Amino acid sequence: MDFKLPVRNAVLDPSFHTEDEEVYDGREYAKWEDEHDSLRRFREEFVIPSKEDLKRKKLSISEGAALEDLSNPRCIYLCGNSLGPQPLNIRKYIDQYLRAWATKGVTGHFVSHEDSLLPSFVDVDSAGSQMLAPLVGASPNEVAVMGTLTANLHILMASFYRPNKERYKIIIEGKAFPSDHYAVESQIRYHDLDPEDAMVLIEPEDADRPILRTEQILQIIDDNASKAVLVILPAIQFYTGQYFDIGRITAHAHSKGLLIGWDCAHAVGNVDLQLHDWDVDFAVWCHYKYVNSGPGAMAGLFVHERHGKVSMAENKKEAPYRPRLTGWWGHDKNTRFLMDNNFVPQSGAAGYQLSNPSILDLSAVAASLHIFNQTSMGELRQKSLKLTGYLERLLLNYNADLSPEEELFTIITPSNPEERGAQLSLLLRPGLLDHVLEVLEENGIVVDERKPDVIRVSPAPLYNSYTDVWEFCRIFHQACQEAANVKNKN
Ligand SMILES: Cc1ncc(COP(=O)(O)O)c(C=O)c1O
Repeated sequence: MDFKLPVRNAVLDPSFHTEDEEVYDGREYAKWEDEHDSLRRFREEFVIPSKEDLKRKKLSISEGAALEDLSNPRCIYLCGNSLGPQPLNIRKYIDQYLRAWATKGVTGHFVSHEDSLLPSFVDVDSAGSQMLAPLVGASPNEVAVMGTLTANLHILMASFYRPNKERYKIIIEGKAFPSDHYAVESQIRYHDLDPEDAMVLIEPEDADRPILRTEQILQIIDDNASKAVLVILPAIQFYTGQYFDIGRITAHAHSKGLLIGWDCAHAVGNVDLQLHDWDVDFAVWCHYKYVNSGPGAMAGLFVHERHGKVSMAENKKEAPYRPRLTGWWGHDKNTRFLMDNNFVPQSGAAGYQLSNPSILDLSAVAASLHIFNQTSMGELRQKSLKLTGYLERLLLNYNADLSPEEELFTIITPSNPEERGAQLSLLLRPGLLDHVLEVLEENGIVVDERKPDVIRVSPAPLYNSYTDVWEFCRIFHQACQEAANVKNKN
């Protein structure tokens, strides 16, 4: 049988073989999609908290019990935009680190074990870059696993924000994540400039649906080009889930002589970034969201190869390398231990490192990257587009027969799949949030809230299933109706 589904249902799979649209809205279809999901095996690589564990008051467990009893029903975890779940293999990586340190002591810096998952301590940073590069569309030379997001933003702004009398402004969105806002503001002050004058804020045109149009961003770049030197934007906006047109905005900023840095906190491990090909100058991100490396895990950065070049030839007019803050770990590996206090950076992003990295921390990041390296961002993005589209479809079904006044929520994330990642932000009618969250929690559903009225729901393609999405929608709908009834009674 061959038939076509209506265009708005492009996320549905016609090989499910039913012409009855409503059947696609049932649990059976979700189950069928899960059974046909080529990435399904990755779900087993994560410790998704059980419903019982979420309620647990103590960490300690009875003797002989498994630390995570995977036979208990899992919660529905849709919060990878905030903190990804724990990869099962993380214990193995950390245990190896502990054993290597215990058995080798300081000699572990240069000597590794034959069966070790990672090289000796001094080379773990390079191994991390190798594993990380494919996630962001970069060469290993262009990325480094180091520091934390905000600290890395400061480190890179020290190199990329070089104001002068004529050009000194930084363009940033008005609703930027606070840490980015503070970093930019303080960098401006650090140069004895006034943020009131030097910070150009891009404000959304519609406060209720704070999406920034690409044209608006380009216009603001044009309007400020004579005095601006740098643009800082999020690849994916934390609140709305909007995925920006990085290639186009980057090219435009460059055409006006501005450099541009991207905060990829919500994009890495989520969408198929091509930072090198998009000609991005620099980018920063963390690894605790979609990359699942644990709270506060070591972060990552990207520096385009043209900014990482090192040429120490004498008598050259231009600087031998891009000016930056320096530390011994950014020094050329071959001569680092000569200790001659004559700084020669490693080429590429590694030359922006300052300190020797925590191997404990890097082991957690490597464990998680190992899972990503078994698939590709292209494959993950394919599933993600379908899964998020499916979530959207089920949510919109609830509003299908309602007038805008009757709707209990709206989706503020762009409806164009190309302009979003795995997250949909749902704006609830005022006064519903607390009750909705209560019902979700009672039912073992983990999402996150942005007060006063938004919840963010993120089906991550590595570990979320269609059944997760289906179950979430069923309970969310129930929760909204209950919350509205309670509100109407009061
Ligand atoms: C978009 C964005 N930027 C910056 C940060 C700050 O990250 P960190 O605390 O790791 O520096 C976060 C944290 O969630 C974020 O979501």
